[in-house]
Amino acid sequence: MYNLLKGKRGIIFGALDENSIAWKTAERVHAEGGTFVLTNAPIAMRMGQIKELADKTGSEIIPADATNLEDLENLVAKSMEILGGKIDFVLHSIGMSVNVRKGRHYTDQNYDFTSKGWDVSAVSFHKVMQTLYKQDAMSEWGSIVALTYMAAQRTFPDYNDMADNKAYLESIARSFGYFFGKEKKVRVNTISQSPTPTTAGQGVKGFGGFIAYADKMSPLGNATAQDCADYTVSLFSDLTKKVTMQNLFHDGGFSNTGVSQEVIEEFSGE
Ligand code: NAI
Repeated sequence: MYNLLKGKRGIIFGALDENSIAWKTAERVHAEGGTFVLTNAPIAMRMGQIKELADKTGSEIIPADATNLEDLENLVAKSMEILGGKIDFVLHSIGMSVNVRKGRHYTDQNYDFTSKGWDVSAVSFHKVMQTLYKQDAMSEWGSIVALTYMAAQRTFPDYNDMADNKAYLESIARSFGYFFGKEKKVRVNTISQSPTPTTAGQGVKGFGGFIAYADKMSPLGNATAQDCADYTVSLFSDLTKKVTMQNLFHDGGFSNTGVSQEVIEEFSGE
């Protein structure tokens, strides 16, 4: 390890279990010398294993529903107290569609479900940043990252309303990135990650076929959760200070590949 995050303090949202992208990121950040507070929705805390991660990384846990402003205000204020200063890095690794969970097709949405999923998966990112902004909680040259998926740009039918939520999330990164950059010298980016076998990922219908297809299409193969943790650490480090307002594809080349030899062979019967 390289001590890339030595002396840096952060908040990590979304570590549910050891498969979670946020879990792998927390381990990697810890290995690079960063300290952080772990947070997740109160209900996920009861179901998940976050305590184990906290013990391993010497972190404290503060429950917060990322759609609830009071929870977020408390989280940000307490994190600065616990960590002993302003925040250098934040990972938003949160996603959930109620329509997907309840098996509602994209053309048959329940709009209460749609609103809830949008709030959790997209608006929560604005709420997190607005809370940090108002409390002036970010250090200069701090870095904020959220995770997204390419369904924001191209249609993947089974991704359902999460596609729309991700498009909104990416837009928030650009819009808030402007103000955070101008006023506080803080960067805001989204990482557009390959399909990854996690609880949220496996909620997508036909995930097995989907992940195998992406792997065959990507010249470098799918990026794993561990790869994503590495990439995120680079964005939290001082080596990427002028990267902001970007949607960064982290997908082994999938997004720029029209077709791969392997996929052609599947169809040509040769
Ligand atoms: P995960 O299921 O391990 O993590 C999702 C997290 O969101 C969970 O920890 C869950 O408790 C949290 N969450 C849900 N509602 C919340 C709320 N109201 N307040 C606070 N936290 C809440 O799955 P994964 O895959 O690690 O997901 C992390 C991020 O990566 C999500 O934004 C997801 O959309 C994104 N992503 C995942 C991909 C995949 O194939 N797994 C591909 C591209 C992006």
